[in-house]
Amino acid sequence: MRLFLDTANVEHIRHGVRLGVVTGVTTNPSLVSKEGKVDYKRLVQEICSIVPGPVSTEVLSQDVNGMVAEARELAKWAKNVVVKIPATIEGVEATHQLARENIKVNFTLCFSVNQALLAALAGAAYVSPFVGRLDDIGEYGMGLVKDIVEVYQKYPYIKTEVIAASIRHPRHCVEAAQLGAHIATVPYQVLVQMIKHPLTDVGVVRFLEDWEKVMGKGKRL
Ligand code: G3P
Repeated sequence: MRLFLDTANVEHIRHGVRLGVVTGVTTNPSLVSKEGKVDYKRLVQEICSIVPGPVSTEVLSQDVNGMVAEARELAKWAKNVVVKIPATIEGVEATHQLARENIKVNFTLCFSVNQALLAALAGAAYVSPFVGRLDDIGEYGMGLVKDIVEVYQKYPYIKTEVIAASIRHPRHCVEAAQLGAHIATVPYQVLVQMIKHPLTDVGVVRFLEDWEKVMGKGKRL
C-alpha cells in the first residue's frame, strides 16, 4: 500500500517526502482553507513540485460543464495534478468526459460500493471512500474499503485505485493495508503517529544509558 498525505500544508508535505514514504498528496477545499487565504494556483503548483506523484485538487462546481471546465484548467497547472470530482450523477458524467481527455480523476466523497462501481466504469483513476466520516455516523467505514476492493478484484479490467481516505488514526492505516487498499491518504499527525511506540522510546533511552555507564557520558563513536 502506498501513502499519500491528506493536507495542503507545504512544510508537512516536504517532511513526508523527505522521509521517503509519501508519494502523493490529496487536498480538498477545507484543507486548503486551513492554510489561510492563499493563491490557490501557486499553492497547488508548489505542492506538485515537491511531490513525486499525484496531487489531488478538487473542483468547486457542481454541474457537469462547470466541473469539466475547472478540471481542464486545474490539469494545466502541473503534470501530476489529479482532479477530485464528487460522487454525484453530474460527477459521473464529468469523470467520463475527463477520462476521455486523459485527465485523471479522483472520485471523492465516496460512501457506497455503487458509487465506487460507477467511478470505475466512468474511468476514474482513483476512488476515495471516506472511512472516518462513516465511522462518525456509527457505520464501519473500513467495511466500505473492504467491499470496494473485493468488487474491483473480481474484474481485472477495472484499473481504478482505491484510496482509503478520511483516515483518523494509525489503526485505520493497518486495516487499509490488510484489506488491500492501493493507497491510504493520511493527515500529517497520523503519519507521525504511525512510527510511534512507547517501547521504542524506552529502548532507545535504555541503550544509551547502558552505553554511557561503561563508555562515559556523551561518548559517541
Ligand atoms: O481525504 C479526505 C479527507 O480530507 C476527509 O477527511 O477528516 O475531513 O473526514 P475528514
